[in-house]
Amino acid sequence: MEDEPFAGIFKESKIFAEREVLSPHYIPQHLLFRDAQINEIVKAMTPILRGEKGRNLFIYGKTGTGKTSCIKHVISKIRDLPTVKARVSYVNCKIYNSRYRVLNKITSDHMPLYAKRGYGIIDIYEHIINWIDEDGKILIVVLDEIDVVKDLDDLVYTLTRANSDIKSGGIAIIGVSNRISFKDDLDPRSRSTLYEKELVFPPYNSTELSTILKDRAEKGFKKEKVDPAAINLAAAMAANESGDARLALMILSKAGELTEERNLSLVTVDSVREAARNAEEELAYELVNTLPEHQRLIVYAIALLSIQGSRYKKLTEGSDTYIFSGEVYSKYAGISESMHKEAKSSRWYRKYISDLEMQGLIQTYESGKGIRGHTKLIKLAYPPEKIRSTIEKTLFKENPESAASV
Ligand SMILES: Nc1ncnc2c1ncn2[C@@H]1O[C@H](COP(=O)(O)OP(=O)(O)O)[C@@H](O)[C@H]1O
Ligand SMILES: [Mg+2]
Repeated sequence: MEDEPFAGIFKESKIFAEREVLSPHYIPQHLLFRDAQINEIVKAMTPILRGEKGRNLFIYGKTGTGKTSCIKHVISKIRDLPTVKARVSYVNCKIYNSRYRVLNKITSDHMPLYAKRGYGIIDIYEHIINWIDEDGKILIVVLDEIDVVKDLDDLVYTLTRANSDIKSGGIAIIGVSNRISFKDDLDPRSRSTLYEKELVFPPYNSTELSTILKDRAEKGFKKEKVDPAAINLAAAMAANESGDARLALMILSKAGELTEERNLSLVTVDSVREAARNAEEELAYELVNTLPEHQRLIVYAIALLSIQGSRYKKLTEGSDTYIFSGEVYSKYAGISESMHKEAKSSRWYRKYISDLEMQGLIQTYESGKGIRGHTKLIKLAYPPEKIRSTIEKTLFKENPESAASV
């Protein structure tokens, strides 16, 4: 074994048939329970495919409701069409998170030779316009996870502005997001541009998730390696949590990994229970990393306060620490200041808090009368120490100069 440290890796799995089918990044041929949504997307794109400038579309829905899969599915159908003038740029804004990067992505998708040269933003803009004008193309820009674009108002303005600079053809925007309060963060002008048409993806219920999982398990696992009760449990847990197909898939594939590691021959409900604990935490840390800046600072403030313990002793019980909403706000304001950023008003703060609760990162309670009148108590839903280190990794990478001062 010592001579062959990698000897194990090509050994055939006893449990998995095609492991990648179970990955949340895999896009299945058939998307279940999404015919209505796919039809709506197609309907919104129909005028565009006929060469008219269609209306912009905004897609909203919680994580794991199939937004990215459906959009990619429709895009692949468009690419198969023989003679349309429509061109598509799919942009994952987690990677291309500024106007400059998005415009650059468009050129590298369609004008690869030009894109290599590192031009300034005005040159890139004009190049895109000329390319569209050449023969009246319609460019569909899909901005997935649009809420993480730092200068989104500028980006939307630029893309809209382009439409008046283009003589024939045009640009249509499809925005995709899983944050509710996002709409309120926008400048009213970008809001009315982006939300010309809105489409909502509802969370999946437990039966739907079960069907989705069975479909994937058939290809992903070898025959009779999964207890059907394990699939139903994974589906029920994910439905209960958020209706998130990604969570359901992560639980099931982790359960498979645990089963394999232990050299067992059947994925059982016990392995699903164990896997669920890991999967939820992993998703939470991922979520924290993609929060908009001020929400992330608020979570950071809550984590720091939870680690230090509340000043009000009564509120700390075992590992559960409840913090006063007001304490969190002051801490958050302090952190912002030390990073030379202006803290948002308390009205925004309350909005963010309810958003964070919606996303399952925190829980809040109204305290009864007595402790400083009526006030809100906040508790982190995940281990504070891990949340803190997760945030520090990204926060101080983006703002290295502030690392010392917080
Ligand atoms: N209707 C569906 N049928 C089959 N698989 C689905 C469906 N919806 C989501 N999935 C799977 O769930 C995972 C997450 O879906 P995704 O499209 O990324 O969600 P979102 O973009 O809304 O967060 C992917 O692996 C996808 O294949
Ligand atoms: Mg997505």
